[in-house]
Amino acid sequence: MQDWEKLENICKQCGNCDLCRTRHNVVFGVGVKDADVLFVGEGPGEQEDLQGEPFVGAAGKLLDEMLCIIDLDRKKNCYIANIVKCRPPGNRDPKEEEQDACIGYLHQQVALIKPKIIVCLGRIAATKLIRPDYRITREHGQWECRDGVWMTAVYHPSALLRDASKRPETFHDLLSLREKIRELNAKM
Ligand code: URA
Repeated sequence: MQDWEKLENICKQCGNCDLCRTRHNVVFGVGVKDADVLFVGEGPGEQEDLQGEPFVGAAGKLLDEMLCIIDLDRKKNCYIANIVKCRPPGNRDPKEEEQDACIGYLHQQVALIKPKIIVCLGRIAATKLIRPDYRITREHGQWECRDGVWMTAVYHPSALLRDASKRPETFHDLLSLREKIRELNAKM
């Protein structure tokens, strides 16, 4: 895991974009470094910036509950990262140039983790990782295999906190994820 430590150290000193000026912590990621399932969110919020870990605020609590439904756990069998590793001030969407400045770290994380499945959490991750014109409302829960990696997107947990009517569809998407994990014999 020497490469991992090297990557994490470089990332933690990153000055590739202006987000480095306002961050408290670089939020590199959390979880099992050879997990078969990788979740990718958008970028750290206030709590994540303060604690240095992804999804530890209200949305994170809901994410952990969602994962628990299908026997996933950040401490046991999955990895969680973000498109941008530093908090966009005021929780605005990360700008295209910030995403471009940061995405190399995620690509290197993917190369080291070698997940079988990548689950995009919300529109920003889906448009960056699946397709620029990805429509989360229409396409969430659908699967496509890219270079041997199965990709899908679900609603972002923050969207589910704002709009509970999206939860049944997300439950359905989680069951589909569990099916895909079984189908691929992914590590649990
Ligand atoms: N929202 C995200 O997209 N990522 C986090 O780490 C926290 C909230």
